Amino acid sequence: MDQHDDLAAIRSDHAVDTHRGRPMVPPSPGLLAATGVGGLAGLIAINRARRGRSSWPHWSLVAGATAVAVNEAAGKPVVLLRWSALRLFLGMKHLLREWQVGDGREQAMADHVSSHAEPGDIDDAIRAIDEFCWRKSFLINVGDEKGAILDRAVHRAQPRRVLELGSYCGYSALRIIRAMPSGAHLWSVEVSPANAAIARRVWEHAGVGDRVTAVIGFLGDGGRTIRRLREQDEFGAGGLDLVFIDHAKEEYVPDLERILEQGWLHPGSIVVADNVRFPGAPEYLDYMRRRDGHDWRTVEHHTHVEYQSVLPDLVLESEYQRPTTAGAGDARTGLRATPPGPNPGP
Ligand SMILES: C[S@@+](CC[C@H](N)C(=O)[O-])C[C@H]1O[C@@H](n2cnc3c(N)ncnc32)[C@H](O)[C@@H]1O
Repeated sequence: MDQHDDLAAIRSDHAVDTHRGRPMVPPSPGLLAATGVGGLAGLIAINRARRGRSSWPHWSLVAGATAVAVNEAAGKPVVLLRWSALRLFLGMKHLLREWQVGDGREQAMADHVSSHAEPGDIDDAIRAIDEFCWRKSFLINVGDEKGAILDRAVHRAQPRRVLELGSYCGYSALRIIRAMPSGAHLWSVEVSPANAAIARRVWEHAGVGDRVTAVIGFLGDGGRTIRRLREQDEFGAGGLDLVFIDHAKEEYVPDLERILEQGWLHPGSIVVADNVRFPGAPEYLDYMRRRDGHDWRTVEHHTHVEYQSVLPDLVLESEYQRPTTAGAGDARTGLRATPPGPNPGP
């Protein structure tokens, strides 16, 4: 089964998921607004043309509004034509500074989960977030298509201890928790306390608050967060089975090197990295390509940017090969240095 068949199968399993499987819904505000703006601009353009006046700017507006309306009606396959995505790109400066779009959509997503997902039901929380992102507001979480790649990596790794870099609103953490074995634990590192609070709220609502620890900080903060993970969370040599990297793109390589310096990985540990093509982590791609077949073995998953099906993206799934110097594991924590079972690789 190739990647597309695989994804199609996973998508059809969702109750409310991608544009194909969705039940009938009322027209989106974006569709109504685009139709209104396009119609008004069209009337003005016709009126001006009748009077022999220039009307091309109005026809351009009609064309733009029609493109947005068709995209909304077709299930929003072109992310750049979604109003919530246009708003996100317009607010990119704010997003990269605060790690929130600036229109309250992250909080609105948590409210949506509280009011639309069954408490204590992790599947329903994931479904409600996907529903919010497809129908209401675009969010920069890993999304359902790339999320399925992450799910499969977690299933393959059968991890006991997982580290995530970049919690945002807690969506990928939910997917990791759902796929990891019972008894496993996730630590999710997030630089923004506001995002960490939203993520915690979502995790609590989904009933998985005890399976994940929110760590507010970042690995490059001069040792504070690494020390906390070592001392408070008992991170030790060879103790991490899976890492999901999904934070500041320029920190992918430095943070991976920090993890390696600590000796937290063991042969067979899996590292999954999102957004390698878009917005892009070229240093990380180069790092993994140059080491492929040596200390890493990498599979490149060609996929799409979240919540649309036009813009391509790349997710890397890399298996660490090099033996750790710790050998039998960390004597202090008793964590093993070998993978939990045969890892057939992707
Ligand atoms: C793309 S979002 C993560 C999406 C999330 N993994 C998901 O799929 O649901 C990136 C997040 O990384 C956080 N972040 C940025 N730089 C960071 C750093 N150096 N360490 C930890 N988190 C960081 C941002 O605040 C933001 O919430």
